[in-house]
Amino acid sequence: MTAARPTRLLDPGMCLTLRPMAYPQFFDMYRAAIKNTWTVEEVDFATDLADLARMTPAERHLVHRLVAFFATGDSIVANNLALNLYRHINAPEARMYLSRQLYEEALHVQFYLTLLDTYVPDHAERRRAFAAIDAIPSIRHKAAFCMRWIDSIQALDRLDTRSQRRQFVLNLICFAACIEGLFFFAAFAYVYFLRSKGLLHGLAGGTSWVFRDESAHMAFAFEVIATARREEPELFDAALEAEVRAMLAEAIACEAQFAADLLSGGVAGLSLDEVRAYLEYCADQRLATLRLRPAVRREEPVRLPRAAGRPGGDQLLRAPRLGLPGRRRGRGSRSMPHSDHRQAGARRAKQAGTVIRRKTHRAARTHPRDAQAGPRPREARRAVRRRLRAAADPRDLGRRGRGPDPPPDLPQCDGEYRIIEHRAPASGCAAST
Ligand SMILES: [Fe+2]
Ligand SMILES: [Fe+2]
Repeated sequence: MTAARPTRLLDPGMCLTLRPMAYPQFFDMYRAAIKNTWTVEEVDFATDLADLARMTPAERHLVHRLVAFFATGDSIVANNLALNLYRHINAPEARMYLSRQLYEEALHVQFYLTLLDTYVPDHAERRRAFAAIDAIPSIRHKAAFCMRWIDSIQALDRLDTRSQRRQFVLNLICFAACIEGLFFFAAFAYVYFLRSKGLLHGLAGGTSWVFRDESAHMAFAFEVIATARREEPELFDAALEAEVRAMLAEAIACEAQFAADLLSGGVAGLSLDEVRAYLEYCADQRLATLRLRPAVRREEPVRLPRAAGRPGGDQLLRAPRLGLPGRRRGRGSRSMPHSDHRQAGARRAKQAGTVIRRKTHRAARTHPRDAQAGPRPREARRAVRRRLRAAADPRDLGRRGRGPDPPPDLPQCDGEYRIIEHRAPASGCAAST
């Protein structure tokens, strides 16, 4: 085990060298994540209990299944992070981000525990929610899928061989694309669907914060994958692509089974076909991020993404997307990925030759208290944008003497993603763009 800077990100060791910084993009992501701090106490569940009382039995069943999934979902991700990712991603700046992510996963666990305690007053039923990964088949299958991928690299102490590195990359892809990027996104979509019906604003408000965190976690994981690909392109061969496609197909099947359970009572306004379309759409988005051909080239479904794409009446700030080749645009913050919904809308508009007038960038509001304070003066918004740019671009670090100029092979950006900013959690659903 060596503390020196390794040649490649996945080389074994425990690197402790932060200067010169080899991967400033991870440090930027860490700094951006720190700005997005929120607390469970700021989420207001006050109106949710009244909503639960007026829901139909089918809707209540959906909510109870969701709560049972939430009860353990983030703990599974946290375990993989601590037991696998932290061990093998050998850059101290990346491990700083992983430390922050681990805190955020704990925060999500606390949020869903509070949700469970609020929604499920009966102690025996609470115990059943935590036992759902064993007792409820649709949740058990999803958990088994996750556990199998955690176990797939548990015995690996070092990534010495090509086969071991491929196995690690597959674990990383699974947790980013299938678990955070599909299981969790589907769960968020149900929450936003309910909010579009005027239900559970407390849950939807908190989900907006979780959604933002999970989007950042995905962006980090995909950036690690892009870095590994630049450094070791031979890992990303046809066999790996086939495994990724099979993994995503299995994840869709697991989530579709969960959806069939959730909607088994017949929830008005939402069909199994729509959910499946959304899952396939999400999977194609993840494949595109991995620079792989979409599986079914499914168009963006109408109902779920419109509810899921803009949590909390968010404002959106355009910023570069990481990890994909192409032209770099601007120097905005990189802390958040594209909204899938907006990305597809822009693509369709481009295909149709539509000219879109871009909105002026809005100031970043990274804290709920800020968000509740109403519009900021223009000068304050500009100041926030300057701070965001300074935090985001590694080239700025070099210019200001706070670090070296980035190496020429830093990830290029071929588009933008957005920082998702929030108004008050209970401000209502932005059901359309
Ligand atoms: Fe999480
Ligand atoms: Fe996460």
